[in-house]
Amino acid sequence: MKSLLQKARTEFENFFHYQPQCFVRAPGRVNLIGEHTDYNDGFVFPCAIDYCTVIASSKRQDNQVRVLTVNFNENDEFSLDKPLEHSKEHGWSNYVRGVFIHIKELYPHIAGLDLVICSNVPLGAGLSSSAALEVSIATTLKKQFNLTIEPKQLAKQCQKAENKFVGCNCGIMDQFISTLGKKDHALLIDCRSLETQSVPLPKGISVVIVNSNVKHGLVSSEYNARREQCEEAAHILHVNKLRDATMDLLEKNKSKMSDVVYKRARHVITENDRTLKAADALRLNDLATMSKLMKQSHHSMKNDFEITVPAVDTLVEIIENVLNEQGGVRMTGGGFGGCVVALAPTEQVDNIRQAVEKEYESRSGLKESFYVCHAVGGAEVINAS
Ligand code: GLA
Repeated sequence: MKSLLQKARTEFENFFHYQPQCFVRAPGRVNLIGEHTDYNDGFVFPCAIDYCTVIASSKRQDNQVRVLTVNFNENDEFSLDKPLEHSKEHGWSNYVRGVFIHIKELYPHIAGLDLVICSNVPLGAGLSSSAALEVSIATTLKKQFNLTIEPKQLAKQCQKAENKFVGCNCGIMDQFISTLGKKDHALLIDCRSLETQSVPLPKGISVVIVNSNVKHGLVSSEYNARREQCEEAAHILHVNKLRDATMDLLEKNKSKMSDVVYKRARHVITENDRTLKAADALRLNDLATMSKLMKQSHHSMKNDFEITVPAVDTLVEIIENVLNEQGGVRMTGGGFGGCVVALAPTEQVDNIRQAVEKEYESRSGLKESFYVCHAVGGAEVINAS
């Protein structure tokens, strides 16, 4: 964190030739279980992680926004006096523009800023680098213009930016946990009421994330397609969202839907159930149950929701063999590549690392990245003095 801050400060001074006034941080996240349930008004169980996006900023006297991203070494500039258009050149800037638009919608007095973005959240890995970017921009606006916006509303405006401006129809999980994460805890989030229960991560258990480094170009279109299939199922079942459906109801209506839509609904209904059970299991430090639930979740994502890829399945298999039901492992995030998450006894972490190093590259042709994470608090202003 310190080095990210230092980097943001130095890059700001080099690029804008004066000193930044304010620093904020927003974390990425890992979802322990509850995948593709958020937009079905269901349950998710993520924690914010100690990989984050830092923004250094200063207010300007006009309505210009100048922004540099250190990760891509690219910069963009736009004016808040005109309706904001999509940037064709810089995909990352659309997240920034989208948040400006949707915060401005509630607080029209926001004005120009100089910004430097610096992040160590792995990009495109299913660890919510986009939510960390959105939430860090919104938190900067909140601080710089003294906005009274509540954290849940801030998360919702960021989601809106991604839905309406960027064009990915994501749910609320990522923006929510990046805003409201709790140190050393995972949060069971009811994505309908937005109520949360925090569950401490048991001592002696490590959160291990392994990035398959599979990059998939179709994430957004596949994601939006899954969402539409879930909506179709809900429509056929005459429920508002799949959260309101049961396996009984689904079975009774099986003949009214395609096999694909049936399988998508089965994933969501069973995953909601697993997520509630997983929160209970973790509360009781019952790693054996957690292990079973994570295994079933992966299986369901692979066969029913069809969002895993062979390299990710291979990673899960390698880690499962080490854990031998003393911990759980599954793919995490939207799918089509990205990361797996393992909850493992700390003394097993080295064994997992060694097994992955030994087998993954030869079996998949790809080299993994390995992270041991800690759960951290949500977005905040950093006192950098
Ligand atoms: C992405 C989306 C989330 C959620 C997950 C899948 O991360 O941004 O809203 O739907 O995929 O659980």
